[in-house]
Amino acid sequence: MSQNNRIYCASDHGGVELKDAVIRHLDARGYDVHDLGAHGTESVDYPDFGALLANRLKDAVGAVGVAICGSGIGISIAANRHSWIRAALVHDETTARLARQHNDANIIALGERTMGTATALNCVDIFLDTGFEEGRHQRRVDKLTNL
Ligand code: RB5
Repeated sequence: MSQNNRIYCASDHGGVELKDAVIRHLDARGYDVHDLGAHGTESVDYPDFGALLANRLKDAVGAVGVAICGSGIGISIAANRHSWIRAALVHDETTARLARQHNDANIIALGERTMGTATALNCVDIFLDTGFEEGRHQRRVDKLTNL
């Protein structure tokens, strides 16, 4: 089933405030937003939330994810251990755009402690509004899937 308007958001405790800001922002933009936690600042482990997000995306055709931890590094590594995930750690407009154009990323990863909220929300908007360019990039993405 196609879920082109659906966005799953997950974070650890280090990303929960930015996750909540992203969810408010995406709700206001009319997306079908699902909050997978964490739901507070009590210490949790980013691999659990990266895996939770990856597994929710497995059969959700067209849905995308937002993954946040303190740096964005740990949760993106966790998500990328799943063959159907292409999680891109993004920090500015260029990386947000290229993650979609060249890599067909299905998760945008952000660091709450490494970027401001306004920059993060702008990156999310660019990520969601940019399409995959296909062509030579499709061949490379196919190779990722088959590694
Ligand atoms: C948690 O303190 C922190 O290590 C985590 O949010 C993340 O930055 C790991 O990559």
